[in-house]
Amino acid sequence: MKLSAPAIRARKRRNGDAPIVMVTAYDEPGARYAGAAGVDMILVGDSMANVVLGLDNTLGVTIADMCHHVRAVSNAKSNVHIVADMPWLSYHVEIGESVRNAGLLVRSGADSVKLEGGRNRLGVIRALIDAEIPVMGHLGLTPQSVMSFGGFKVQAKSLEAAKQLTEDALLLQEAGVYACVIEGVPGIVGTRVTEALDMPTIGIGAGPETDGQVLVFHDLLGMTNRPPAKFVRQYADVGSVITEALGRYAQDVRNGSFPNDSEAYANPEALLD
Ligand code: KIV
Repeated sequence: MKLSAPAIRARKRRNGDAPIVMVTAYDEPGARYAGAAGVDMILVGDSMANVVLGLDNTLGVTIADMCHHVRAVSNAKSNVHIVADMPWLSYHVEIGESVRNAGLLVRSGADSVKLEGGRNRLGVIRALIDAEIPVMGHLGLTPQSVMSFGGFKVQAKSLEAAKQLTEDALLLQEAGVYACVIEGVPGIVGTRVTEALDMPTIGIGAGPETDGQVLVFHDLLGMTNRPPAKFVRQYADVGSVITEALGRYAQDVRNGSFPNDSEAYANPEALLD
């Protein structure tokens, strides 16, 4: 059964609940495989910029790009909660425009939206929730902040920064966010933020103690063009399987063994004369 935002909000490991399993997907096959594998949530992440479009960061993705991919994921009808990333600049300029942009994601098939940032995003988060759109937060190494962070750097390494992150998480919770991604922080920070909150945390590079985990589809399947980050566990080498299969196809075409008779349509009698 598809989990609703309130059902996810109620999941907490300290209450004996199972960890939340989230994976990204960007198209119908990916969402179909994720659904068949029994994940709890699919994130249509703006990491699409990196792993699908081959960009160096997520800043090049627009709301139209996200809607296009949310529609594809939704077409899988996997019966899995779909959370869609609000891309950079789709929620930073004006609140009315932000609500309309989130509405476009919902109309494309999202069950909730995710946006990055803490205390500086409370206004827009409240407006989205007021428009009946469930919101997931995202704190720590927020990739849309790559320019202001000066790169993709582990966050909350000082006591002050860890306290600020915890305060931000509490503010998001108070504003009505139903869950929060915590990315790229020392494990102790993932643990302490999770302890401080009633809503679940979903970690990526935030240690083992968060209420759930999320990984990027292409990272965990071995389909990226760069070495995986420290926190990635690669469960398969699908990239090698694809390269090997395409190589055999190319070889068979070149040596004339593909297609054979059984892979061609039968010739009608009328044409044989
Ligand atoms: O876009 C994305 O894939 C994400 C995850 C890294 C959490 O935001």
